[in-house]
Amino acid sequence: MGVFPENFLWGGALAANQVEGAYNVDGKGLSVQDVLPNGGLGAWTESPTPDNLKLDGIDFYHRYKEDIALMAEMGFKVFRTSISWSRIFPNGDEETPNEAGLQFYDDLFDELHKYGIEPLVTLSHYETPLYLARQYHGWINRDMIGLFEKYARTVFERYKHKVRYWLTFNEVNSVLELPFTSGGIDIPKEQLTKQDLYQAIHHELVASSLVTKLAHEINPDFKVGCMVLAMPAYPMTSDPKDVLAAHQFENLNYLFSDIHVRGEYPKYANRFFKEHGIEIQFEEGDAELLKNYPVDFLSFSYYMSITEAFDKSKYASGRGNILGGLSNPFLEASDWGWQIDPIGLRLVLNRYYDRYQIPLFIVENGLGAKDELVVGADGTMTVLDDYRIDYMHKHLAQVKEAILDGVEIMGYTSWGCIDCVSMSTAEMSKRYGLIYVNRHDDGSGDLERYRKKSFFWYRDVIASNGENL
Ligand code: BG6
Repeated sequence: MGVFPENFLWGGALAANQVEGAYNVDGKGLSVQDVLPNGGLGAWTESPTPDNLKLDGIDFYHRYKEDIALMAEMGFKVFRTSISWSRIFPNGDEETPNEAGLQFYDDLFDELHKYGIEPLVTLSHYETPLYLARQYHGWINRDMIGLFEKYARTVFERYKHKVRYWLTFNEVNSVLELPFTSGGIDIPKEQLTKQDLYQAIHHELVASSLVTKLAHEINPDFKVGCMVLAMPAYPMTSDPKDVLAAHQFENLNYLFSDIHVRGEYPKYANRFFKEHGIEIQFEEGDAELLKNYPVDFLSFSYYMSITEAFDKSKYASGRGNILGGLSNPFLEASDWGWQIDPIGLRLVLNRYYDRYQIPLFIVENGLGAKDELVVGADGTMTVLDDYRIDYMHKHLAQVKEAILDGVEIMGYTSWGCIDCVSMSTAEMSKRYGLIYVNRHDDGSGDLERYRKKSFFWYRDVIASNGENL
């Protein structure tokens, strides 16, 4: 008997907006990503500009069969991707869905099933229809709940025999940092108050419960998870003030999973809301929805830990795609300055499981690095990415430890299993893949795919069900 459970879901993860391209093909409407040429951290433009690499992505829309065959070669059991909302409802508030968009995902899921790969589908991964951002100001507006429900109902009904695992909002906590990218809120961040942001999040939380309810009505076998950006926080020193600062940071992050799993706002939120003048407007039925329809499992992304201090000005800052915290002297950083911390993953797994006792799913983890395409020993082009293997090896070793600690883990999907366009910076050169895509920051490249060294390593990990890390 190995450590990883027999039915452990090994695989990889992508998001529609970072790979599909075909941004205006077959009736697709624009999404917020189509006007973010510099990525989720940058400013948005009036309309798509040719320098936005996401407009073509890695042309997954036309090449998904080739890509899925490569995933199958690695032995994937699961593949996480998202449905692009604006392929299904181009503006977001139409009455009837776009059949061509629905057909695309039918074909995609069929192709996965051909190889016995289970789809894991995110309903909303940073790709709100642009029209909803412009006309409704995104999730600030309560009408979004009904529009999201209609979209979710449409895809739940359509794919009820093809998709079993669903996630509602990618990194639901990121609305606070990236209101436009994450929440479709087209108001400059400086003009938004905490009240606006937490109210928008409340709408997402209610929508998430509503569609969890709906999912189980449509197919009782559906498993619905929330998805949060996980980040364990360390105190910079053992000064109790620093310890408290780290604890408070973690609580504010726990808020989202606490509501999704326990079905109510935690008590510690009351004080924070009071001190920041936040009064969440509940409508009739909100509290019952949250309480009665919690998620079946908790999924999260994990890239790094964060270090906190009472007086942050005394220390150097760290970097991350959304949150950075302080620089931790015990950790090394990636080419993009993200601090690499495998043990943090074991901590996160243990902390979530202690808190909720529901199954956990690691749906994003990986190393964004600069890769060089070279001729391999057998004469084929490859990338000798020992650094990525080292990163994944160390993280999976900690997943193993967490399983031994008693944590129930459903699966692991490595982020950007195929090179894709970066969310935060819209760069192609920040590569996470086990498969190299020949495309570059200046838009050049023929989009050919090449197996990296990590491709073969991960194939062996999966084949041995995690015994050969
Ligand atoms: C997560 C997102 O925050 O991090 C992904 O869910 C994203 O969409 C990933 O790609 C890595 O971030 P980046 O900015 O390096 O692409």
